[in-house]
Amino acid sequence: MTERTVFMDNQTLKDNWHAYMNKPSIWHNKIHWEMPFGLINDPNGLCYHDGKYQIFYQWNPAECKHLNKHWGYTETADFVNYSIPQLALAPVDDFDRNGCYSGSARSRNGKLEILYTANLKDAQNIRYPRQVLAAKNSDGTFTKKKIAVDDVPKGYTTHFRDPYLFTHSGRSFFIIGAQRENLTGCALIYEEIGGNWILRGELKTDYTDFGYMWECPNLISVDGRDVLVFCPQGIAPQGHKYNNLYQAGYLIGKFNPDTLEFVHGDFQELDGGFDFYAPQVLAQPNRNILIGWIGMPEKENEYPTTKEGWLYSLTLPRQLKIKNNTIYQLPVKELDALCRSKQQFNDCRALTLSAPCKITLDIDLTCENHWQGKFTIGSDELIISFDKNTQEFCINRDNLTLGGKGRRYFTISVKDNLHLDIYLDTSIIEIYCQNGEQAATACYYAQEKLSRIPFTTNIPLNIIVCDLDSFKLN
Ligand code: FRU
Repeated sequence: MTERTVFMDNQTLKDNWHAYMNKPSIWHNKIHWEMPFGLINDPNGLCYHDGKYQIFYQWNPAECKHLNKHWGYTETADFVNYSIPQLALAPVDDFDRNGCYSGSARSRNGKLEILYTANLKDAQNIRYPRQVLAAKNSDGTFTKKKIAVDDVPKGYTTHFRDPYLFTHSGRSFFIIGAQRENLTGCALIYEEIGGNWILRGELKTDYTDFGYMWECPNLISVDGRDVLVFCPQGIAPQGHKYNNLYQAGYLIGKFNPDTLEFVHGDFQELDGGFDFYAPQVLAQPNRNILIGWIGMPEKENEYPTTKEGWLYSLTLPRQLKIKNNTIYQLPVKELDALCRSKQQFNDCRALTLSAPCKITLDIDLTCENHWQGKFTIGSDELIISFDKNTQEFCINRDNLTLGGKGRRYFTISVKDNLHLDIYLDTSIIEIYCQNGEQAATACYYAQEKLSRIPFTTNIPLNIIVCDLDSFKLN
């Protein structure tokens, strides 16, 4: 299929924004970033610039298909108030006709600079990926400046994309997803030397045969450790591991910028749910904030919002920490400001929720081995449970009529107390276990508009419920 380039100017977008936003949907979320039309996927260009967090993302404004990728854009100072989205990059140039694919951004000398993959395919569907620099102008528009890397290095195929800018030891690099000619995935490192981007070589890891392509690599430093976040494609499920079509995970270790050696531990998945891919990390000196795409490539038919003309969301911004060689993730503290009212329920087995809300559960498992919590979604159910013997947490979507089904299991370490922070939005649940030891994201789709979601638990609990305000667009 040939791709079609549409260009919607920002004024039209702005003029129509409220009309689009008011389109009735029983599934639009209130505290998750999404667009009222078209398909969004990877978060892109995350950085802090001019006093605000810059958030870009892949967006096909024309339809719910993976075509025609633009960069959508918003900024926020506090993760509560966001600017009305605009289009930052459109695939209107000869070199990016087939999409402004994923990339990253940095704030340098007061300027916001972007590096993205320009996707171009010829009549035979052969790809010509190029890495292009763009910048934000003082009037808020964006200009593509120059091609920083024009070719694919020898030894690698044209699956070569998603540059992520980072600094290490005071030097500037980008890491980019690649595929070797033997069809295994890897990441390459480029260094900025004298204003040019020079290929330094392949990041040397122990995972030399781990999937056929690594998408969206990020190299960051968290709590003094180097961390490679990446999305290997082509990993077969192993028991409860790797059950999604593609994986998003990380290696913790030490990167040597001179030899490109990365000494690391085992690959661990970032999210234990169904709908999570292509995360990007906004790296600041004092904290790292991860945002993921709530969705999965090639699964558009699993999401009923397609028939309303909009598809996918971004996760809550999550702050990263390392404890016990594991990345812990918890929503940034700014989100506490969304709490409109807080109530505590003691010894409670049943209560009624309304989305969006946050519930905090402390589950005493001293005398119990099995806990189950059930959300009643109209005539359907979403069930979460934990088994102390196996230490397995389960999210069960088998009793939902619409959307993806199945179960996801992940292991957490629980002695006697299981602590959960759950963010329940109109059609998304994000579950944070044991203060962030494991995060899990799942979409759920009610068959009718719900104002109340009954929640029951098999063990009486103390539950804190925060009713949340929607985030604001202004
Ligand atoms: C990951 C990805 C990237 C690519 C982008 C295109 O979801 O496939 O590798 O740059 O999406 O939208």
